[in-house]
Amino acid sequence: MSMAPLSIDVRDLTKKFGSFTAVDHVSFGVEKGEIFGFLGPNGAGKSTTIRMLCGILSPTSGQGTVGGFSIAAQPEEIKKIIGYMSQKFTLYSDLTVAENIEFHGGIHRLAPARLKERKKWVLAMAGLEGRENILTRDLSGGWKQRLALGCAILHKPEILFLDEPTASVDPASRRDFWQLIYELSVQGTTTFVTSHYMDEVERCHRIAIIYDGRIIAIGPPRELKVRFAGRESASLEEVFVTAIQGARTS
Ligand SMILES: Nc1ncnc2c1ncn2[C@@H]1O[C@H](COP(=O)(O)OP(=O)(O)OP(=O)(O)O)[C@@H](O)[C@H]1O
Ligand SMILES: [Mg+2]
Repeated sequence: MSMAPLSIDVRDLTKKFGSFTAVDHVSFGVEKGEIFGFLGPNGAGKSTTIRMLCGILSPTSGQGTVGGFSIAAQPEEIKKIIGYMSQKFTLYSDLTVAENIEFHGGIHRLAPARLKERKKWVLAMAGLEGRENILTRDLSGGWKQRLALGCAILHKPEILFLDEPTASVDPASRRDFWQLIYELSVQGTTTFVTSHYMDEVERCHRIAIIYDGRIIAIGPPRELKVRFAGRESASLEEVFVTAIQGARTS
């Protein structure tokens, strides 16, 4: 076990919308540099959890820190050190590719020279060189996705939150995308990612399965395979189905 402070550390995090509990006493920790996968059926509470961790949605109860800052008391500090790619990502369709990047640079107050350098890096990383002046609404879904990721990492965040970042991205680009996540991980960036693609979840250091707002399994993929399917050669799909069936009947 590493003794470094956890990048994400939450205890009993809960979100209610009226009488409905979307996230129910969720507790977990994520280490610096770790790639942490969050999976669960539609409506399980993944996006709601991410929005609380990003300081966008205040928890109903429970506590935790992101990058050492309190979720309840210091959401503005959290926003400065994270990158967030939401499920319905926040690009301005009537701005060009370059203008969207510049806009994000403004939000994070990057100095002009730094913005210029980071913009160049993002365009190269996302394969968007030569498309700088295209209106974002004219990009295909996969290219928009790349631009959204580029904007999320423009300011070199310590912690990256990605909510289904590769939905509608082609297989080769998904592989490149994960290559980038690995490179960032080696450099110390923590990634919290949701996905419905089991091959992607397989690449995470650890995963948590959320069902009905509760975490029903957490651990490295190999460990969960042994626990839920009895063998390391099992597929994560089998783990997922078995874990959810177990939670349903208990
Ligand atoms: N602002 C809100 N008001 C009321 N209910 C909400 C609100 N936001 C989310 N919910 C409900 O909370 C539950 C969890 O939603 P959430 O978006 O977190 O699910 P998810 O796990 O991200 O699902 P998906 O895989 O479809 O993206 C759902 O039942 C959803 O309808
Ligand atoms: Mg979601």
